[in-house]
Amino acid sequence: MTNLVVHDLHKRFGGLQVLKGVEFEINGAELIGLIGPNGAGKTTLTNILDGAIKPNSGTVYLNGVRIDQLAPYQVAKVGLGRTFQVTRSFRRMTVLENLYVPAMALDRGYSKARIAEKAMEILEFLTIDHLRNEYAQALSGGQQKLLELGRLLMHDPEVIILDEPFAGVHPSLMEIIYNYINRVNESGKAIILISHQMDSIFTLCKRLLVLNGGVLIADGPPDEVKRDPTVIEAYLGTDEDEDMHHDAQASQA
Ligand SMILES: Nc1ncnc2c1ncn2[C@@H]1O[C@H](COP(=O)(O)OP(=O)(O)O)[C@@H](O)[C@H]1O
Ligand SMILES: [Mg+2]
Repeated sequence: MTNLVVHDLHKRFGGLQVLKGVEFEINGAELIGLIGPNGAGKTTLTNILDGAIKPNSGTVYLNGVRIDQLAPYQVAKVGLGRTFQVTRSFRRMTVLENLYVPAMALDRGYSKARIAEKAMEILEFLTIDHLRNEYAQALSGGQQKLLELGRLLMHDPEVIILDEPFAGVHPSLMEIIYNYINRVNESGKAIILISHQMDSIFTLCKRLLVLNGGVLIADGPPDEVKRDPTVIEAYLGTDEDEDMHHDAQASQA
């Protein structure tokens, strides 16, 4: 069973203390929402978990393997993958080639035929199979987000972090991303979903982590978190739903 243990993470950029002792644990294929105001440290936490940056102190273990000092490709091999708030595909490669790269780079021992088959299954599911021979740079912003979700599955990670997958996405693609999250989660993968879209968070997630000013101020079932006075105060209001909603709109602007 997947086990991620995040212990007492601290991260500083110059004089700015961005994470102040973040701790949580994931056991099994949980679907967890990570929310918090802009600047709370959500992306910084993701960057530490995937090995892009190193914490000043604290540890991260995935299935007993310490990953906080590893490079991103090593973390991917151990089994954690993420998408980026701003997509990062290989723009001068085709859609299919973009999917082949992570599968081959990680060398999971799949045959080329199996990789090709898997890539097509993923593209069909994401409804971009007709774009398979287009250069990634020709895709719309939303389609690039879908491609990034597809690339992630080629890694076959056990833990997936999705950094704002709905931001800037055309409403017609929302349902595809919803289905992706549910299906990937049901296939046994743990997912951390970062989003300002409270509707999607409350529909999809069974557990919420709330980060505010680099501190995890809540960790529990959405209904409880919603009523938590500390959380309500962090969102600066009396009606938590409405204020979370305002925050979402501000972040989309
Ligand atoms: N590389 C960096 N150098 C300096 N400051 C940074 C860097 N990355 C993030 N920050 C700062 O850290 C804080 C948290 O940012 P971030 O993790 O992106 O928050 P969130 O994703 O929750 O909006 C912000 O104040 C941001 O400006
Ligand atoms: Mg962010």
